Amino acid sequence: MAVAEQVIYRGLKKPEATLPAHYYFDPDHHRRELDAIWYHGWVYVCPSVSMPDPRCYRVYEIGDQSVLIVRDEDGSLRAFHNTCRHRGSQLCSAGEGRFKFKRIVCPYHNWAYKLDGSLAATTSLATPEGFDPSGLGLFPVHVDTWRGLVFVNLADHSSPLETAMRGDHARFDAWPIEDLVLGHRSVKTLACNWKGFWDNFNECLHCPNVHPGLVKLVPIYGRRISGRSDDPDYASHADEADPKYQGGLRVGAETWSTDGNASPVPIPGLSEEHKGLGQTYVVSWPSMFMVGHADYMRIVRMRPLGPEKTEVTAEWLFPKGAMEHPDFDLENITGFAEQVIAEDGAASELNQRGMHARPFTQGVLMPEETSLRDFRDWVLERLGKT
Ligand code: FES
Ligand SMILES: [Fe+2]
Repeated sequence: MAVAEQVIYRGLKKPEATLPAHYYFDPDHHRRELDAIWYHGWVYVCPSVSMPDPRCYRVYEIGDQSVLIVRDEDGSLRAFHNTCRHRGSQLCSAGEGRFKFKRIVCPYHNWAYKLDGSLAATTSLATPEGFDPSGLGLFPVHVDTWRGLVFVNLADHSSPLETAMRGDHARFDAWPIEDLVLGHRSVKTLACNWKGFWDNFNECLHCPNVHPGLVKLVPIYGRRISGRSDDPDYASHADEADPKYQGGLRVGAETWSTDGNASPVPIPGLSEEHKGLGQTYVVSWPSMFMVGHADYMRIVRMRPLGPEKTEVTAEWLFPKGAMEHPDFDLENITGFAEQVIAEDGAASELNQRGMHARPFTQGVLMPEETSLRDFRDWVLERLGKT
C-alpha cells in the first residue's frame, strides 16, 4: 500500500474561473501577451542537433520580432536580432541553412558581420570621421541549451534557462536527449489562440470523446484524468494493477505507436520502471512540451502567429541507428501522435470558435482541470495581474 500513500489528490476543491474569454481573441490583449510573455522569457527554438556544424543558422520569428541563431566557428551558439545596424534591414529571411562563409552579410548594402556579431566590413568607399565599428555589432539575444535543446530569450535580463522547465524535470535524466537524432518533423497551423492549445493539453476531460485511439493505449485517460493524482478515489484502487487506475500503457503495449509496438532500437539505458511509465512529460510554458517514450522522444513547439492563429511543430527524436534498422517503421511511430495532435488541434479550434459568443465572458474549471488553473495563474502572473 506504499504506493497509495504517495499519491496525493490534486483535484480542484471548488469551481474556479478560466482566463477571460477575450484573452483568446482580442488583438490588443494579444500584443500585451507577446510583450509580457513571449518577449520576456525563454522560448524553445529547435534541437541543437538540427544545427550541428559551425555556420549553421536558423531564423526564429515570434510576433514582430525575428531572431537569428548561428553556430560560431568554436561550436558555441549565438543569437542576434535579425537586423542590420546600418539602416535596419532584415539580415536573413530563410528559415534555416548554413552560411557559405564565416560572415553574416546583409543583403541590402552588404555590411558583413563575424559570426560573433561584430561588424567586420562596410562597403562604403570612404569611412566617415568618428565612425566606430566596435559599437555597431549585431544586437545580441540570450541563447542557451537545456539537455541539447536550444532556447532564446528576448528580455534584457534573463533568468537561468533551467528555471523555465516546470516541475520535476529530473525525471528526464534517464533520457539521453543530447545523443538522439531528429527523425521526423511536422508543422501545422491551427485557428486558435496559443493558450487554447495549452488549455487542451492541460486536461484529459476531453480524452474519451476526442481521442478514441489514445484512450485504448493509455487506459487511465479513458477515465478523463491524466494520472493517479487526479483520481479522488485512488486509495480504493491502490492495490489493483490495472493501468486504468495506475496509469501507463495497456497491457502488451510498449510505446505510443499505431500498433503499440516499440521500434527495434530502444532508448539506451532506460530502466524497466522508466519504460513502464508509458509517457513522461516535461513542460516549458509558453513554448514547448516534451514526451519521453521507451524508444523515442517527441517535442511539441507552440508559436503564436496571431491572436487566433498558432503554429504547432512536432519533432520526433530517435537513438542513433534506429532509422537505419531494417525493421524500423517510421509511420507506425509518427502516425499515432500525428493523429493525437490533429485531434487536439481540432478540439482547440472548436473551443476557439465558441468563445466568441458575447455572453461568454469566462468559463469554469472542474476538479480535473488543476493544470489549467496553474497555467491560468502563470499567465496572470506574467501579465502582472496577481
Ligand atoms: S541595411 Fe544592411 S547594409 Fe545597409
Ligand atoms: Fe488531447
